[in-house]
Amino acid sequence: MLILGIETSCDETAAAVVRDGYEVLSSVIHTQIALHAPYGGVVPEIASRSHIEMIPAVIRKAVEDAGIAFGDIDAVAATYGPGLASSLLVGFSAAKGLAVALGRPLIAVNHVHAHIQSAFLADGAPHSEDVSPILGLAVSGGHSAIVAAEGRGAPRILGQTLDDAAGEAFDKASKMLGLGYPGGPAIQKAAEKARDFSGIHFPAGRISSDNPALGGLDPELCFSFSGLKTALRVWLERNPPKGEGEVAAVAAAYQEAIVGALATRVAKALKRRRYEALAVGGGVSLNAALRARLTEVARSAGVPVFLPPPKYCGDNAAMIASLAGIGRGVSGVAAMGLDVVPNLAFD
Ligand code: KG4
Ligand code: ZN
Repeated sequence: MLILGIETSCDETAAAVVRDGYEVLSSVIHTQIALHAPYGGVVPEIASRSHIEMIPAVIRKAVEDAGIAFGDIDAVAATYGPGLASSLLVGFSAAKGLAVALGRPLIAVNHVHAHIQSAFLADGAPHSEDVSPILGLAVSGGHSAIVAAEGRGAPRILGQTLDDAAGEAFDKASKMLGLGYPGGPAIQKAAEKARDFSGIHFPAGRISSDNPALGGLDPELCFSFSGLKTALRVWLERNPPKGEGEVAAVAAAYQEAIVGALATRVAKALKRRRYEALAVGGGVSLNAALRARLTEVARSAGVPVFLPPPKYCGDNAAMIASLAGIGRGVSGVAAMGLDVVPNLAFD
């Protein structure tokens, strides 16, 4: 089963060919980072225009790199949500058109679910469909969620951010610290230079049980990162950093607050019931401090942890074709009738 995957939910135009769910024959990612960097964040109008320009070449390259012909493709998979409406529309429409032209089924995939699946593209990882239940952590610029995936059912949200996503928290802090965009890698790089940051503490974003935004979710498994951003702003007003060393210390303390918040929630979730694996995905899963901390959390819980290879941490289409390849998503006529869903939930 050869699946062509297409991903355009945010600011990466991506296409990939995956055989039988796990054998990645090609993965092409065209990033728009340079286009959005002057604005310090993704500008939706610029993103969709760039997707339109790039999608034909990206798809063609994915097919060529895989060493196959368009006629060999068995199904076309694409992200239909969550994400930016105008970005999603480009990839999903291209996938619909290709599916019709090739006379092959369309498979519509949930982007956050695909980020969790990306953890199983690591060398030596088992196939996700052989592992159940899985605790998933999806952390990127647009989402931060802890999910439980069991059997063939749709993953269930156990906890999520009530405001900013973890990646967004990195990006906003980086802007405040003058470290550039995207913020995650910039903060990580600065933090690695820090010597001692024990004197700087940022809040972990504890959530009270009567917070109306919880919507029935467990407050101990939810996150809030908007207070962290405010705490940073206040800190910088009171203690303007003098020189690179002080910026590094603030970046390290800020990164620690995010990593600590994510790791303690995951540790709590792992205590609630027995999971067969912890799977992490999304752009923030590139963060070295987070990878190390989650590996430690999983080790002390006695649960194997799977982290995506760096090339599949951020948005990519291999994870889309992979998820479609193991039979997840909406397929065939039902998929053709779908529109993109910017705030798509799992169920
Ligand atoms: O998954 P992704 O490429 O796109 C979305 O679906 O949002 O994630 C992008 C996010 C950005 O916010 C970026 O700052 C963050 O991932 N990120 C990182 C690192 N590399 C990228 N965050 C922390 N540490 C990193 N090394
Ligand atoms: Zn993503």
